[in-house]
Amino acid sequence: MQLFRSFRLDPVNQCLWHGEQRVTLAPKAFDVLRYLVEHPARLVTQDELLDALWPETYVNPELIKKYILGIRKVLGDQHDNPVYIETLPKRGYQFIAPVTDRVAEHPRDLPSDTISNMVGRAGPLGELQVAFSKALRGQRQIIFVGGEPGIGKTTLVDSFHHYASRQGNIRTARGQCVEGFGGKEPYYPMLDALGHLTRSPSAGAILQTLAKRAPTWLIQFPSLVKAEQREALQREILGATRERMVREICETLESLSCEAPILLVFEDLHWVDPSTLDLISALARRREEAKLMLACTYRPVDVILSNSSLKGLKQDLQVHNLCAEIALERLPESAVAEYLTTEFPNSSLPLGMANLIYRHSEGNPLFMVAIVQDMIKKGLISHDDDKWILTKPLETIDPGVPQSLQQMLEVQFERLTPAERQALEAGSVVGEHFSAWVIATALEETPNRIEDLCDELAGRQQIINAVGVQELPNYVVSAHYEFRHSLYRQAIYRRVASGKLARFHRAVAQQLNTVSGPGRQQLASEIAFHFESGREYEQAIRFLIVAAENAAAKFAYRDYIQVLQHALGLINKIEAHLRAELEVQLLEFIGDAQYALGAMAESAAAYESAASRAGQAGLKSAQVNALGSLVRPFGLIDPDRGISAVSRAVEVTRSMHDPVVLARTQMLAAGCRLLYDCWREEDALLCTSAHDELKKLGDTHIPPFHNMIYAYVQALQGNYVEALEIFERGIPKLDQTTSLMEHFFGLSGKTITLMRLGRLGEVLRIVREAKDMAQKNGNDPWLFNFREAWVRMLALDFEGSARVCEAILRTKPLYAVGQPQTIARIARGYSAIAGGFTELDRGNYKRAIESFNEVRDPNITPKFFLHWAWRMTAQLGLSEAWLQSKDIERASAEADAFLHSALQTADPHLQALACDMQARIAIVKGDWASAQDCVHKALEIVRRFEVPVAGWQVHATAWRIYRSKQEYAKAESHRESSQACIFKIGDSFPQGEPVRESFLSAAPIARILNSSVEKGRATDD
Ligand SMILES: Nc1ncnc2c1ncn2[C@@H]1O[C@H](COP(=O)(O)OP(=O)(O)O)[C@@H](O)[C@H]1O
Ligand SMILES: [Mg+2]
Repeated sequence: MQLFRSFRLDPVNQCLWHGEQRVTLAPKAFDVLRYLVEHPARLVTQDELLDALWPETYVNPELIKKYILGIRKVLGDQHDNPVYIETLPKRGYQFIAPVTDRVAEHPRDLPSDTISNMVGRAGPLGELQVAFSKALRGQRQIIFVGGEPGIGKTTLVDSFHHYASRQGNIRTARGQCVEGFGGKEPYYPMLDALGHLTRSPSAGAILQTLAKRAPTWLIQFPSLVKAEQREALQREILGATRERMVREICETLESLSCEAPILLVFEDLHWVDPSTLDLISALARRREEAKLMLACTYRPVDVILSNSSLKGLKQDLQVHNLCAEIALERLPESAVAEYLTTEFPNSSLPLGMANLIYRHSEGNPLFMVAIVQDMIKKGLISHDDDKWILTKPLETIDPGVPQSLQQMLEVQFERLTPAERQALEAGSVVGEHFSAWVIATALEETPNRIEDLCDELAGRQQIINAVGVQELPNYVVSAHYEFRHSLYRQAIYRRVASGKLARFHRAVAQQLNTVSGPGRQQLASEIAFHFESGREYEQAIRFLIVAAENAAAKFAYRDYIQVLQHALGLINKIEAHLRAELEVQLLEFIGDAQYALGAMAESAAAYESAASRAGQAGLKSAQVNALGSLVRPFGLIDPDRGISAVSRAVEVTRSMHDPVVLARTQMLAAGCRLLYDCWREEDALLCTSAHDELKKLGDTHIPPFHNMIYAYVQALQGNYVEALEIFERGIPKLDQTTSLMEHFFGLSGKTITLMRLGRLGEVLRIVREAKDMAQKNGNDPWLFNFREAWVRMLALDFEGSARVCEAILRTKPLYAVGQPQTIARIARGYSAIAGGFTELDRGNYKRAIESFNEVRDPNITPKFFLHWAWRMTAQLGLSEAWLQSKDIERASAEADAFLHSALQTADPHLQALACDMQARIAIVKGDWASAQDCVHKALEIVRRFEVPVAGWQVHATAWRIYRSKQEYAKAESHRESSQACIFKIGDSFPQGEPVRESFLSAAPIARILNSSVEKGRATDD
């Protein structure tokens, strides 16, 4: 803490205080000042400053000059007669005011000039202090300070902030909500506050905590992430959700508060965004001890008018005693009197003065101060002989005081020059905070002229304050100003005629757009807001789309959808010929976001609207896209509708005469029919030939979803290498949060391919990683639960498989119940079989048959992704069940049916198992010739394709056949092949993995592993 004259520089919290007033300074300007203050009374050269503050970048030395200028403005220093910063021409600068170092532990001995001129707020300040002392004891505190504009919320909170930062090692950070577009920027005030913290000297600790506990927040500050950290960070945050983001920041704040208590201030919550409300809610409800206090200011009337959910949140928290509220009232006359005595010590103002000001201002402090300042400006209050006096009789002044603040401002405004008025009007359009540069370009003036004008106004303490020089994102350095109070801005804004207003807004939007610089446009929602207010709706919509993407980068999909819906609301205001295209695009984006949120019905509805809108407008390519997208949500909730959507897409493409689009769509449609309906050879051929066609046409941009559908088709025909390669290529789309489902789709395809390849351990590893990630993100890993059930089944852990499925079903998933239900039925069927029917356990046997039949019955088990493969597995199960219960005839009938179905497909795994089953039935029938014939067919398949899960079974059957033919060498070689398949599967698991152990010790496996040639001979059946 450094003190110089009446200023106090708090490097920890990056604040400059003048008395109890916070002085706003841009971060870099603050750094320059801090450097000078920390090296006082000696020459600091430009080079030294550049080295210290911009160690790795080249910076034009002119910039320093600008910053010094800005700092001087803020300190009220004069160039020719400086008391703070002296310029030593051609050499550098010297801080000349005496600086005292204050250790924060001794806060009481501050100089007397830091005593505030805040009056009448002892009660509220006391409440805040009591709350703070509770926070220091680990009881988190959430306080809402409510009151009308100008009532003194900011003043109170500032004063409290000042108090708190003198209580030792405290971290403070402030976040401001902004009017207009701020409500569309998720976490606006929190990011603002975090931004301050990451620039403070303790930034290192903060960044470390963010990296450890809040990667989803760290990534929001790209400049703070080192290039080499980036990829790991991106992997880490994959699939993050709103819930995770909220949880991470809560944990970060709690963890940081262990080192030093934290005071957070969120200002003007009536303009808050919904995500910040979630955050406040979570922060208030968490039970962990935390030395944390959040003080929020808001205007109750604006909350009601804007219908913000802040009201509901506050009520709810209040009911549960999780927050406190301080309602600021107008000042009583006695406080006004006190104000006059502190402002004008040693005065002989008449007694009725306080009453006069009280009556006119009605106790609103902003108005009170404005009246007093106005009187000084008009010379009604004047300094005479070391005394403040009233220069006119009280009675003559009384009628001259304006009746309202608005009126008073209008009078003041009228007194300004036209150029000043023009600049202020333009400033009021930009917002509370504006740069001279943006105003100048919007007004086609030179920035210097605008700066002079504004400096002049700020110097007269009229309407605006100078807040120093800042660098804009386009590297332009410009002086910045802010309105002394938002009511001033509003009063001026309201005066601007509507035509002019729209023109200003458009100009500001354009300027901000040039400022915004390349890359992701941080200012998108602000630019959109200005275009919208400037009635340039097409541009507004385009920037809203970017703003929505920014929201998605914060995992705020609800906000994303809200922003797009807002854009949709503007669609009828744009020119008709542009309308349809944008509307379709917006609907597509909404569909994507709903899909990412798991809201399949809503996603499908959005894609449907997109498709029909595109259809009406004759936008064929967009229509094809939307119809193609439909299959994704419908795949989970209604596959037949998905298939009909892609068929419609094919019809549309036929009239487009675009071979690439036609081939893509045909590939997709054929693939979807194969995966969601049933296997048909012609579709398999069509899918593959369309893919070849695309290759021939040189299409390098096949959409990932289309490509993965093709890869599934390949996997199901035994082309595992190609499939795996495509899936793996589809997976690392890490930086596109909206393609998360694609990522999952890729992973899902990879797991299915690996299962066919017998690499069950790898599948389990993917499943576990995905589940960890889902847990971190707080979402339901349904897809990976299915895969776990499937893997367990292939590893003969039927009980485990059934358990996993039943757990899924207990959570009542909204969609995609077909798959877990089916796996559960099959697993139950097999575990009944594994239990054995040999003891004539009719109950088990019946249950198994029932389960398998349920899977085959389309009324009980509706279609889902790859349902036909499961139905065949059920046929296999049925035949197994009949076989074990010695009903050869029925077993044989089912086995034939299974073989017939399997031959309709191109799946080597299923076909090998079907032939194997034929062989086993032939054995039981004693038809050894036929058994050998069938097993040969099966062996041929497992030799051609790498399908060890079928392989071990087929070789086991062959082993049995050759033993009985007493061809022991051959038998043994099959046993060894079977064993090799088993080891291949087993070795894919890590040692000690329970699923591996249960697989290797399952009865049919153990029989193969434990037999040697001799034993084989002895236990011939
Ligand atoms: N208690 C007070 N005593 C003296 N002046 C005050 C007090 N509260 C507010 N003011 C004056 O009124 C102005 C507006 O107050 P502010 O805190 O910005 O209001 P709000 O944040 O509620 O809109 C301040 O700049 C300050 O000059
Ligand atoms: Mg305020």
